[in-house]
Amino acid sequence: MEEKEKLRQEGLRLLKEMPQTDKLQIEHRLAEHLFASFVWKDAKSIGLTMALPHEWDTTKLIQQAWLEKKRICVPLTIENRAMQFYHIESYNQLTNGAFSIKEPIADRCEPASKDTIDLIIVPGLLFDMSGYRIGYGGGYYDRYLTDYQNKTLSLAGRQQIKQSLPVGPLDLPVDHLLTDDGFLF
Ligand SMILES: Nc1ncnc2c1ncn2[C@@H]1O[C@H](COP(=O)(O)OP(=O)(O)O)[C@@H](O)[C@H]1O
Ligand SMILES: [Mg+2]
Repeated sequence: MEEKEKLRQEGLRLLKEMPQTDKLQIEHRLAEHLFASFVWKDAKSIGLTMALPHEWDTTKLIQQAWLEKKRICVPLTIENRAMQFYHIESYNQLTNGAFSIKEPIADRCEPASKDTIDLIIVPGLLFDMSGYRIGYGGGYYDRYLTDYQNKTLSLAGRQQIKQSLPVGPLDLPVDHLLTDDGFLF
């Protein structure tokens, strides 16, 4: 098996087998650190993916963002493994999409151009100390981020952090890595 594929399975197992109480505690700490940070405070428009049950919940981030009058954008997967983000103001603008991930309903929302998103919260299974990540293997974020100019951040439990990971020529590191212990960078 390819090395990345092995690591994907390790990361996925780690998340799926985490006790619910541990998961909630980590999510609480991630949110606390995030909301107190300048990365969050400086972002008026935030792009994020609706989490699957084993992933770090993003609805708490959406609620807080809306409370602080920030705009939220959510990606829709389109042809050629590309994504288009759309602004959402309500969960009514979402439906179950590819991979059972909630996606925006294009004709109920305004598209968000790449340069208007100040911060993208990039999902992943494992991360390393340089910000490289192992995702689900679709390369969606690697593609999207090639010409994205603003900030990226990933949320990770400390068990998702490795010293280093195999990196391909098209992999891009995130700018900030936040764990339950705080910002690694
Ligand atoms: N910018 C890009 N343009 C075209 N293909 C890409 C790009 N970034 C990644 N890919 C391709 O997407 C596939 C998945 O990428 P990989 O890094 O293995 O997955 P993930 O980042 O989801 O863990 C690979 O075949 C990779 O070559
Ligand atoms: Mg990649």
